[in-house]
Amino acid sequence: MKLTVNKEAISKLAFITGVISFVFYVKMEQIPKKFPALIMAHKLGGRYEILRTLATGGFGQTYLAVDTHLPTHPQCVIKQLKPQSNDPAVIAIAQRLFNTEAETLDKLGSHHQIPELFAHFEENQEFYLAQAYIEGHAIGKEIVNGKPLLESQVRDLVKDVLEVLAFVHQNNVIHRDIKPDNIMRRDRDGKIILIDFGIAKHISSQMMQQGYLPKLTVPIGTPGYTPPEQEKGNPTLASDVYALGMIAIEALTGIAPDQLPKDQNGEIVWKNQAVVSPEFAKMIDKMVRYQVSDRYQNAQEIFKELVATIVLPQPTQPTQISQAPSKSPPRFIVLVGSSLLIAIVASFLIAFILTPRTPQVSPPAHRNQPRGPL
Ligand SMILES: Nc1ncnc2c1ncn2[C@@H]1O[C@H](COP(=O)(O)OP(=O)(O)O)[C@@H](O)[C@H]1O
Ligand SMILES: [Mg+2]
Repeated sequence: MKLTVNKEAISKLAFITGVISFVFYVKMEQIPKKFPALIMAHKLGGRYEILRTLATGGFGQTYLAVDTHLPTHPQCVIKQLKPQSNDPAVIAIAQRLFNTEAETLDKLGSHHQIPELFAHFEENQEFYLAQAYIEGHAIGKEIVNGKPLLESQVRDLVKDVLEVLAFVHQNNVIHRDIKPDNIMRRDRDGKIILIDFGIAKHISSQMMQQGYLPKLTVPIGTPGYTPPEQEKGNPTLASDVYALGMIAIEALTGIAPDQLPKDQNGEIVWKNQAVVSPEFAKMIDKMVRYQVSDRYQNAQEIFKELVATIVLPQPTQPTQISQAPSKSPPRFIVLVGSSLLIAIVASFLIAFILTPRTPQVSPPAHRNQPRGPL
């Protein structure tokens, strides 16, 4: 059998395949990070099957998983904590702190606005938490730079977060990373859910204090939301109050917190950029005072004050917080679509190469030529 290779067609196909693969690669830029999870041959903790990576943070990864031990295989979130060192002493400390913190989280998870803790376990010197999966969006999607929210919306938001933060503070837990990305709004009922509780942050700050972690390489907290005392390594409950105050300022001004000027005493200058009543502005000012002692000391304190002022209805202002922008198509659709395309092109290419072709015999030139007069 003699095969004829059409070089032009093959080079065209190779070019198309290349373009498709490039698009596939760009769309799935996360794939190198996802790959280890996707190929994980075993179930984590013997029961959790990883579906995909939700996020990669400084302390490990967050995965979406299913619990194969339950009959309906419900979805859950697995947070992995990787100690930043192989030193057995560091791992032993991390292990102890992890257990203590997991117990605290277990207690906090009883609140309906905090994801329930399903399990905590250690595998290959890495630590895992399994918790309830919240279908919703981070309020980072509602607070958009350049688009200030109404005072009534911000009051509602602050009150909703304080409701759950007060419970956290009653349990003497400092969240340490209150920011829009760690506050979710549940699709089902629009409720605020607080996530990203500080196991990793707690462990790291403890280790930092014990000299096990280099201070500069493990930032705890997020610039703009983190108060000065926390930056110096001494967070208190009032540090969370500061972070929430900064979220309120961000929502009222439409300006990212690390872009706001400070006066000579380190106080945030923001009221000239917002439409806000003097009474609410005063409360927010007290949330973000530079000195811890000048601030509300915990969430309960400000919650009481806020609730006392919030009873007046404000009929002229809409009460709904703007909806999150529409979601981009899920990644697995992109994955499946791109894979199908590549499969089609590949099959076409193989079929093209393997199909036997009869060499085309060109008819003798003279047969087609009109006969001239003899
Ligand atoms: N319980 C949860 N339900 C739904 N999504 C979650 C949950 N926990 C975390 N996520 C998602 O994973 C992201 C990272 O998780 P997070 O706990 O904030 O870890 P980190 O910020 O330390 O990487 C979150 O911003 C959120 O999008
Ligand atoms: Mg987070």
